[in-house]
Amino acid sequence: MRTQVAIIGAGPSGLLLGALLSKAGIDNIIVERQSGEYVLGRIRAGVLEQVTVDLLDEIGVSQRLHKEGLVHGGFDLLFAGKRHRIDMNHLTGGKNVVVYGQTEVTRDLMDDRAAKGLTTIYEADNVQVHDFEGSNPRVTYDKDGKSHTLACDFIAGCDGFHGVCRASVPKGAIKEFEKVYPFGWLGILADVPPVSHELIYANTERGFALCSMRSPTRSRYYVQVPLSDKVEEWSDDRFWKELRLHLDPQAQESLVTGPSIEKSIAPLRSFVAEPMRFGRMFLAGDAAHIVPPTGAKGLNLAATDVKYLGDAIVEHFAEKSDADIDHYSQRCLRRIWRAERFSWWFTSLMHQFPEAGGFGQKVQEAELDYLIHSEAASRALAENYVGLPLNFGE
Ligand code: APR
Ligand code: PHB
Repeated sequence: MRTQVAIIGAGPSGLLLGALLSKAGIDNIIVERQSGEYVLGRIRAGVLEQVTVDLLDEIGVSQRLHKEGLVHGGFDLLFAGKRHRIDMNHLTGGKNVVVYGQTEVTRDLMDDRAAKGLTTIYEADNVQVHDFEGSNPRVTYDKDGKSHTLACDFIAGCDGFHGVCRASVPKGAIKEFEKVYPFGWLGILADVPPVSHELIYANTERGFALCSMRSPTRSRYYVQVPLSDKVEEWSDDRFWKELRLHLDPQAQESLVTGPSIEKSIAPLRSFVAEPMRFGRMFLAGDAAHIVPPTGAKGLNLAATDVKYLGDAIVEHFAEKSDADIDHYSQRCLRRIWRAERFSWWFTSLMHQFPEAGGFGQKVQEAELDYLIHSEAASRALAENYVGLPLNFGE
């Protein structure tokens, strides 16, 4: 088998890249380790920046997003028992975010790919990438008891943090930067109306909590937990009691509880691999970087990697120019580090860090106080939250 671009991984990065390339007439095949249902079963964040919405518009997969997505012009910060609204729309001169679950983005992209008859090979075992430093890269995998070879011009490593692409690069050719946080987020999804019409990010002495949503009838809530906690130790009842203790009196009153339809603990990590290109193989999305979820930058960063990569590959085939391919890694990393900085800062501001001691606690309180009383500080938060423009600083 032969294709122009072999894409490893059918998460949001791989599906978005496949759609962008197909739209430009570039042949691609996605090879995914799991089944489609498994991919859709993973619950992740759900806040889309305008650049992500623009990309979904560009590839023509945004009809449902515009119908069902919830446009948010602000969010609340809750600390010292009170809520303070960050009016993103006002502070950024009219910008918003759209609340629409990553699962739904993935479903829309999968449906579109299936409707166009584009090839995705699910449940591929033992996926391996070869010869990407030369001019004839290949992907091999096993499926239904047979070995297969996919020859290609380029390999796109969209295979997430635990994927095979980054792991196949010789150790000396890649540099990794990592920060692991001493806590995780326990999250639940429940078919109950959200406690508020916008998101609430709370920092209390019990730790961080987030009130988010998927629709007017489906809520997503999180609380900070020690890494040693196991999800089995958290009954729904215990979760709701804990969440309530993080809320202000008005939110406590409007909180509607119900049975969870998903419950899991996610550790928090900041991670970047440099560079993101190795000859004819590129990394994109979680394969190259992870942000802690505070601020919901993960999917949006994946989308901008893909936009840069897709356009660069289109330019290669259409104009025979490698200028953007050569610039890909540097261009992405600049944007990634800005988002890493923001996600680390917002995480540091909103969580309890026992090892920071009394001094750390007081500095955090002072920063929150400054943030809500200084328009300049609120604007810096809002500007980063809605997402910096694609060509920022270029
Ligand atoms: N072979 C083939 N597929 C693989 C392999 C492999 N060896 N290893 C992993 N995969 C697949 C995974 O099963 C998964 O479906 O690659 C896909 C990677 O998807 P994601 O982990 O969702 O990563 P990405 O598409 O970059 O999406 C980024 O997802 O994790 C969130 O916060 C992140 O929102 C961001 C988005
Ligand atoms: C979510 O809805 O899952 C979500 C929203 C905002 C975040 C993180 C997660 O910052």
